[in-house]
Amino acid sequence: MKQIIKSYPDNPAVASAFAKELVHLVSELAKSKQQINIALSGGSTPKLLFEVLSKEYSETMDWERIHLFWGDERCVKPDSPESNFGEADRILLSQVDIPAENIHRVHGESEPADEATRYEQVIKQQVPSNESGTPRFDIVLLGMGSDGHTASIFPHEIDLFHSENICEVATHPESGQKRITITGKVINAATNVCFLITGDSKAEVLAEILDEKPGFEQYPTSLVKPNIPATFYIDESAASAM
Ligand code: 6PG
Repeated sequence: MKQIIKSYPDNPAVASAFAKELVHLVSELAKSKQQINIALSGGSTPKLLFEVLSKEYSETMDWERIHLFWGDERCVKPDSPESNFGEADRILLSQVDIPAENIHRVHGESEPADEATRYEQVIKQQVPSNESGTPRFDIVLLGMGSDGHTASIFPHEIDLFHSENICEVATHPESGQKRITITGKVINAATNVCFLITGDSKAEVLAEILDEKPGFEQYPTSLVKPNIPATFYIDESAASAM
């Protein structure tokens, strides 16, 4: 079954549409689950989503049930503008009534290998596993870089996707920045995987991946194949090469 692709005019429209669907999905999950485990993506794309959730859904979401994790985090202090947690906290978490104990940030300020081990334990403790013992998030949000990376699994380290571990230490190919990332088995175990991809810088690679053009397997994003196919929420710029 092919991925589901939902295209919108621009990033604000993607954020608005996805926010509405996310709220609905969470309310559906809340009918049968006491704790809903969501792994957030980082980078700039989800910031508009966080703004919409903060401004329009702060009273609608059942924050008591929602536990937030990060699919990847830069190894920086939480108050760094580079911090995925820091930005989500500034825009959203500090604006809604989510209990502090429901927020499971990656300690970007810690030694990377130690933090990958610690965060793996946090995920194992908080997120129920599937039949193969892999923690199964209810929702994993992902972005995609213009090089086809997702979470912090970059093409030059694509083998991290296949790691037996739950978390790995990754290295940004240009900056050398260390990152903590969940691995492919955790991504593909998730019940719902949602990509938010916008901007024309992603268009060429996104088209290669979705149209399975020759060499598409070089991109980590192409390896995201959960049981229920991922849904791609994209804007017209990102869709412009399809
Ligand atoms: C990160 C992300 C990363 C991001 C893509 C797209 O920490 O940077 O998790 O995978 O989703 O790089 O980033 P933009 O949304 O900034 O284009």
